[in-house]
Amino acid sequence: MSPHIFVIFGASGDLTARKLIPAFYHLYEGGYLPEQFALLGVSRSKLSDEDFRKRVVFDSPFLPEGISDADKEKFASALYYQPIDTAEEAEYAKVRDRLLALDQEKGTPGNYIFYLSTPPKLYKTIPAYLSTHGLNTSNGHFRRLVIEKPFGYDTKSARELNDHLLQFFPEKQIYRIDHYLGKETVQNLLVTRFANGIFEPLWNRNYIEHIQITSAEPIGVEGRGGYYDESGALRDMIQNHLLQIVAHIAMEPPVSADAHAIRAEKLKLFQSLRPIKPEEVEHYVIRGQYTSSEIDGEAALGYREEEGVPVDSRTETYVAMKFFVDNWRWADVPFYLRTGKRLPTKVTEVVITFKPSPQRLFSSEESFRSPYNQLIIRIQPHEGLAMKFGMKIPGQGFRVKDVNMDFHYADLTDAEVPDAYERLILDCMRGDATLYALGESVEAAWEFVDPILNAWADNESKLFGYPAGTWGPKEAEHLFQNGTHWRNPCKNLTDMGEFCEL
Ligand code: BG6
Repeated sequence: MSPHIFVIFGASGDLTARKLIPAFYHLYEGGYLPEQFALLGVSRSKLSDEDFRKRVVFDSPFLPEGISDADKEKFASALYYQPIDTAEEAEYAKVRDRLLALDQEKGTPGNYIFYLSTPPKLYKTIPAYLSTHGLNTSNGHFRRLVIEKPFGYDTKSARELNDHLLQFFPEKQIYRIDHYLGKETVQNLLVTRFANGIFEPLWNRNYIEHIQITSAEPIGVEGRGGYYDESGALRDMIQNHLLQIVAHIAMEPPVSADAHAIRAEKLKLFQSLRPIKPEEVEHYVIRGQYTSSEIDGEAALGYREEEGVPVDSRTETYVAMKFFVDNWRWADVPFYLRTGKRLPTKVTEVVITFKPSPQRLFSSEESFRSPYNQLIIRIQPHEGLAMKFGMKIPGQGFRVKDVNMDFHYADLTDAEVPDAYERLILDCMRGDATLYALGESVEAAWEFVDPILNAWADNESKLFGYPAGTWGPKEAEHLFQNGTHWRNPCKNLTDMGEFCEL
């Protein structure tokens, strides 16, 4: 990896302390950081280098426990801080001067990565002002720009942002982060499909009845009411994280494993999503908002009672939807997605439900099973896979029971699975954009969700309440057909293949 300086804008914020600095610490610990390296935090807060180090290293509750003082000192010695008013063009001269001084001190050759972890309103300002001071280009050295979500608010704003950024940084230097792409198990979806001969022949409309993806969280909006109320579950989770999972599940095999090939296939998939027409939205998309209730004997607030949320808010904290992918492989196979806050448990999983065997030979016998085989891919937590199929119950006759064959990711290695941010930062430092989103893909994903957002903008559109701590509005069940339904995973799951209703 080439020597460089990593600049974080928004360095005094929560994400820096909670996710980015711990990721850097793990990279340092693993020996991944180059010998000549510096991290420069930039933000409005008036902090010195020492204050910054104290905040994100010495006093941080987010670094692993048990790090020796010597290690903390050594790691912290690569961290620097530059306060500026990020909205003021002239202030960026301070960043430029500091970078030049650090290049001298550290022996770095002028390679810079700029990471924007700021409120989105600065996503246009910062690249423009970096350019005023000549920081976006360099002869022979790299300049990269990393952007956090939300990338736009709808198709129009995402396109405007892309066009704006492209004035200063070419596409290959722009890294749009979707932290789900950094998750090992999301990457493993590609390995499961394309490194095995047994799944892909079945992976199409001839054998698959439907596909469902659930991403549930027990937490509410956790002090982010202001942000969340502007966003809602469709923008916060579906437009980015869940559609990325859909792309990994449904894309065609790439011609190679490089960034270009994989991202090109994902783009094609996004372009094949069948748009939901405004008049179909109520039929295909159910939105909900959690209401006050009791969870494990404790009172739980409703969404409208959360701090920063208007009492008459119509923002959705839950979405369940059905849609189709219009291409050769997936014609007529329904895809179901759901996500929500204040659901019973933390879980993200994909369930592939296969069509039943053509003849129900044993259907006259008492049966303990559904006719559908399922492949359950658990993305988090207790990552792994389970295959569900029918077996004969020993004894008289042909009684059939569902059993699970399961693999737990934890059995593969004792090593800790790297955090998504660690992997993504490392890839960016190496110049590998495979796990970052293309501008065009982000726009295509917005194009898919835009009609839904437009339909909801109408105050008459339905919003269902669901008590905090439950699996969302019962109306979400009506999306299904053929006797299939949502798989509600258990709360404390050790046997990930087990089906249980909560
Ligand atoms: C973030 C959303 O992008 O992803 C949050 O803004 C959500 O609302 C989070 O809680 C979920 O991420 P993870 O990795 O905990 O599943």
